[in-house]
Amino acid sequence: MELYIDTANLDEIKEAAALGVLDGVTTNPSLIAKEKGVSYHARLKEICEVVKGPVSGEVISTEFNGMMKEASELVKIASNIVVKLPTTVDGLKACKALSDQGIKTNMTLVFQPLQALMVAKAGAFLVSPFIGRLDDVAEDGMDLIQRMRQIYDNYGFRTKILAASVRHSKHMVDCALAGADVATVPLSVIKATLNHPLTDSGLKKFVEDYKKAFPNG
Ligand code: G3P
Repeated sequence: MELYIDTANLDEIKEAAALGVLDGVTTNPSLIAKEKGVSYHARLKEICEVVKGPVSGEVISTEFNGMMKEASELVKIASNIVVKLPTTVDGLKACKALSDQGIKTNMTLVFQPLQALMVAKAGAFLVSPFIGRLDDVAEDGMDLIQRMRQIYDNYGFRTKILAASVRHSKHMVDCALAGADVATVPLSVIKATLNHPLTDSGLKKFVEDYKKAFPNG
């Protein structure tokens, strides 16, 4: 499973990239808005300078012509920009038009399997089911990932399932078990992947035993 970080914060991106296992970045308008005093395109450019894998930059327009115009500006930022589009009628049309031009898209705000089927037919590079937001409304985010995996495998669709709105380690494990191609997660979830109290206590004991046996190093 590929690992992306879901943030527009440069320090967090650099910290995650330093681990050596970061494959890409996803942003959205809300995440970039949290970064005070930065311009939307300038921040995407800065991110693309740190991470060479896919960096999703989202359009703001909600109608086809506006999306296409914004996409043409976004792809000028860097060669690894992926145009993120809402999964609506206009978004689907833009996805098809951009895919036909060889431009990579990430179809966002996916909450049910038929949205995933449609964007795959339109040639999306990535599709973003929001699992945490489904769990928030007492639905089952992981069930959506499983259904999408089944549909894509049934027909050999190559669109990558990018699990988004991942809130904790359990989500991340379940995404890997369900066959999500990518998980995009906050830095806190990336860090938590390496946590276990038995690792900490085991390491402490190794170091203590060594120091007792070899007091002179
Ligand atoms: O990038 C979109 C997505 O990951 C949002 O997550 O936690 O706001 O539902 P969240």
